[in-house]
Amino acid sequence: MSKRTFSIVCIPGDGIGVDITDAATQVLTKLSSTFGTFTLKFDTIDWSSKNYKQRGYYAPEGGVNSLKKYDAIYFGAVGWPDVPDHISLWQMILPIRTTLNQYANVRPTKILPGTSSPLSACVADPSLLDWVIVRENSEGEYSGHGGTTPSTAHAAHTVATEVSIFTKVGCERIFRFAFETALSRPRKKLTMVTKSNAQRHGMVLWDAIFYEVAREYDGRVEYDKMLVDAMTVRMVNRPESLDTIVATNLHADILSDLAAALSGSIGIAPSSNLDPTRQFPSMFEPIHGSAPDIAGQGIANPIGAFWSAAEMIRWLAGADGASNDEGLVEGTGVGHMVEAADCLMQAIANVTEKGVKTRDLGGKSGTKEVTDAVCEEIGKVY
Ligand code: NAI
Ligand code: MG
Repeated sequence: MSKRTFSIVCIPGDGIGVDITDAATQVLTKLSSTFGTFTLKFDTIDWSSKNYKQRGYYAPEGGVNSLKKYDAIYFGAVGWPDVPDHISLWQMILPIRTTLNQYANVRPTKILPGTSSPLSACVADPSLLDWVIVRENSEGEYSGHGGTTPSTAHAAHTVATEVSIFTKVGCERIFRFAFETALSRPRKKLTMVTKSNAQRHGMVLWDAIFYEVAREYDGRVEYDKMLVDAMTVRMVNRPESLDTIVATNLHADILSDLAAALSGSIGIAPSSNLDPTRQFPSMFEPIHGSAPDIAGQGIANPIGAFWSAAEMIRWLAGADGASNDEGLVEGTGVGHMVEAADCLMQAIANVTEKGVKTRDLGGKSGTKEVTDAVCEEIGKVY
């Protein structure tokens, strides 16, 4: 079997983003050397808030386009208290997601062995919570349309607008992706989240297009609709009634933090920013931020970073795939990479089950101990 080399660009960013990216590259290196059927070549780019303060920009001119030559992007977290958060978000993450057509953000949630959910029902039966949140990642509330007049804020008559944009093409493609995701899972069940009772334009279009796309999946996927406020209640009270969830950019952002907390900690939650057409590289990152409150202390939980790394390997396994009828690319598998992703997930589960956990999960271990334990476990699982 020919050995395939993938080039990965790492953008550690700020705070614990740096610690967990280091940990993830260590684990990925161990994984590829253990399997021996694929190689990962890492380049690291320092687009951080420290650099922004010194030179006035995160990514240099043409920086985001320069990422196109890589097979995948591994991202830590960006944001630091001395730079307004909307600058780090709008100069770094959002341009990458939109320029590289990463319109689907996929956020799986489940309870790992040896960890505990705050939901009493899930303490007795952790399998009750097993979700994938599909977040629309290119428009909606994060379209950046709006303005402030006068631009010098804080005048008595200042007006600011923040306009959500919903396009037919944007809605259609995320719903199709979500239905395909639901179809690929055993329960074949999709819940659409909306707020069309109060937001009567964009969200009404969102709903209408959902039902249009849903017709293509009638009889194959069971689907329903929830208002976002009621959805938070259902996630807490009836976690077993949910499987795949599709929501707007903002709603899914909020619901996935709730999902992470319900599964035990935000520190374990992964995310994949996918360009389902595979024209451009996709980006993998834990959902948490730079956590300035614990940065530099060696206590950040690296599991969200490892799980994101596993999702990256799984995505790269489909690198040679061909488009299906929906324009989505199905993987054909490159050199045992699906097995490698499964191996990494099993290694993570074995480590949490043994009680090697960071403080956010109720353990006493540091980032390094968890990382070393996962590396050791990879060797055993393989
Ligand atoms: P955060 O996710 O950084 O932290 C929230 C809380 O969770 C903190 O108490 C933190 O200690 C804890 N936490 C987060 N990740 C953890 C981990 N791996 N292990 C253990 N504990 C963990 O969110 P916050 O505080 O709202 O934002 C901090 C900065 O990060 C801000 O500048 C924000 O804009 C940025 N941010 C960046 C994101 C990204 O790069 N994609 C996403 C979210 C926030
Ligand atoms: Mg978020």
